[in-house]
Amino acid sequence: MSSTEELIGRSEVDDIEAILAVSNTDVDEVIHAVRANADAVFTWDYEQSRKPLQKLYEKAKTSQWNSNDLPWDTEVDQEKVALENQAQNGWGEDGRVDVVGTPFEHWGDKEWLAYGIEAQNWTLSQFMHGEQGALICTAQIVETVPWIDAKYYASTQVMDEARHVEVFGRYLSEKLSGNYPIQLLRYVMSDEARHVAFGVLSLKEYYAELSAPEIRERQEFAFEAAVRMRDRFLQQEVWERMGIDVKAAVQVAMQDPDRPIFQAMLFSKIVPNCKKLGLLDAADGWLRDRFTELGVIQFEDWADTGEEYAQLDEVAKDRSAVTA
Ligand SMILES: [Fe+2]
Repeated sequence: MSSTEELIGRSEVDDIEAILAVSNTDVDEVIHAVRANADAVFTWDYEQSRKPLQKLYEKAKTSQWNSNDLPWDTEVDQEKVALENQAQNGWGEDGRVDVVGTPFEHWGDKEWLAYGIEAQNWTLSQFMHGEQGALICTAQIVETVPWIDAKYYASTQVMDEARHVEVFGRYLSEKLSGNYPIQLLRYVMSDEARHVAFGVLSLKEYYAELSAPEIRERQEFAFEAAVRMRDRFLQQEVWERMGIDVKAAVQVAMQDPDRPIFQAMLFSKIVPNCKKLGLLDAADGWLRDRFTELGVIQFEDWADTGEEYAQLDEVAKDRSAVTA
């Protein structure tokens, strides 16, 4: 069993020095290799015996969409959107965060607008890189899962993730970044709903056979991944690019009473899905205690994603609207 310090490199989850110590040191690299050491598993059992996974695979086959069909000629006015987001950005203006003595003290409309644009670029870039991570991971799932139903399904997710990288990359380069591309996001989110359903459906069966130490390892992984994602929301690179003191900016960002709203977007799916998988309460509730420390345990009874993917299929909705 590992301590919090061993898992995330610090004993306090909000230790700013430690959070800032993790940074990208080679921003110009084009290729980045990560060693993978899992076996590629063949199965000779071609019987499709897992009905929920089979259903998910069928859904995935019919819900494919082509990124070329999105309305790429839509005009994007990035400044307009940044201004509309001003309410979220303008710390100090409404007094909800005390900015006296911080880099934001003398910021006016010009600086907040520049920040709004940088923040959009940054967010979409995070999505794009994250989708590439998903592309690589799902290709590995195809290799490593032992069940034919899971290999079939995971292969569709590889294609989904390739499409996600493609649309975020294209949006960033063609539209010079911009507002949250609604149509694009609706479709990506429908795909994501299936992806999470796959995780929940297959891991539930697999976890049932694991030993207590193996479950604990999964709990620790879930905690570490959750903290690392949460750290990313502090936008260190944006402050750096804007030439202000990163530590001071992060300290202000952490005081924002609206910050929990962003955390909610992230954890409202993670926590209930961990609960459904039994990870929350295994090992005397170790992960429950960690999520309580992070202030996100209140999401435990929100809808898990094992079943809701069908309702979230925006591609099917649009197609039936066209044919109706
Ligand atoms: Fe994705």
